[in-house]
Amino acid sequence: MVRSVVLGCGAYLPARVMTNHDLARIVDTSDEWILERSGISERHIAADGELTSDLAAAAGRDALAAAGLGPEAIDLVLVATATPDRTFPATAARVQAKLGITGGAAFDLQAVCTGFVYTVATADGLLRSGVARRALVIGAETFSRILDWTDRTTCVLFGDGAGAIVLEARPGEPAVGERGVIASYLRADGRLEDLLYVDGGPSSTGQVGHLRMAGREVFRHAVTNISEAVETVLRQTGLPADAIDWFVPHQANKRIIDATAKRLGIAPEKVITTVQVHGNTSAASVPLALAVGVADGRIRPGHLVLLEAMGGGFTWGATLLRW
Ligand code: ACO
Repeated sequence: MVRSVVLGCGAYLPARVMTNHDLARIVDTSDEWILERSGISERHIAADGELTSDLAAAAGRDALAAAGLGPEAIDLVLVATATPDRTFPATAARVQAKLGITGGAAFDLQAVCTGFVYTVATADGLLRSGVARRALVIGAETFSRILDWTDRTTCVLFGDGAGAIVLEARPGEPAVGERGVIASYLRADGRLEDLLYVDGGPSSTGQVGHLRMAGREVFRHAVTNISEAVETVLRQTGLPADAIDWFVPHQANKRIIDATAKRLGIAPEKVITTVQVHGNTSAASVPLALAVGVADGRIRPGHLVLLEAMGGGFTWGATLLRW
């Protein structure tokens, strides 16, 4: 038996910061509206020519350094992204090349904002089945490239960035008391596509398209779905909500995070929140929040960490791990 243990964590944010005041010069909005409705003050925006694979490689390099590993140690690169550099090859293959990794497999996973949670579960499965030994698991996005910058209902909410972890196969069964991934729960419901989607793609319009969202409806589903995912993972492991050391949610909206934590009975001081300075970075948001929690000393080896996300598809899920 094998379990997947986190060896290190990394992050990258583009240098350019766009504040709510900057946005108010582009669309009819205000700092007060954005802050009150979403909790967001600022977000990072990739420079011209800075690609998702550049962000992903920088976060991956940071995670490898934190793990004390070189490129030869990795035999699986997974990138969760909805904003790949190209239709193909996979951004993961480009990241592999940029990092000098030459062994094993590399592929992208597309579950929009739930991408990182899906990718951790996928890497865990591949490590436990013996396909790979050490995985670099990345969430990376340049959502600034798929925003309609004339639509104030969406363009104020998103940002660019990347986060990564290294997972290693270690002998022993997954167990609540041991370090490693303990349990994952993944869901999708394709019937709700019209509430959140991008209106383009290679086989439909031949164009990249722009993000479209019915924000209020997404909000309503988010709290219900995230709560279901978290409750299921806790039930699978027999743990009460107050056993969790750190709740690391997808960073879409501070109101969703607060409402979900309250409904689940998770104390506010156990919630890692970065949405105020990152905006919604889709698949990058959970690993970016992890990296912040690790860097400032809150998340430490042995802590019980709960990840969750919900996004386009709809997709949603949760993962419980001991850091
Ligand atoms: N600035 C000023 N006013 C605005 C803006 C803006 N940027 N955007 C909308 N408004 C106006 C609307 O036009 C509306 O005006 P009206 O009442 O005259 O019609 C009013 O503000 C209220 O709009 P609502 O949409 O009802 O505002 P709400 O409180 O629901 O907040 C928000 C909107 C922030 C989008 C919220 O619904 C939300 O966060 N939803 C969830 C989004 C989410 O979680 N996405 C995650 C998945 S993302 C992914 O998977 C890629």
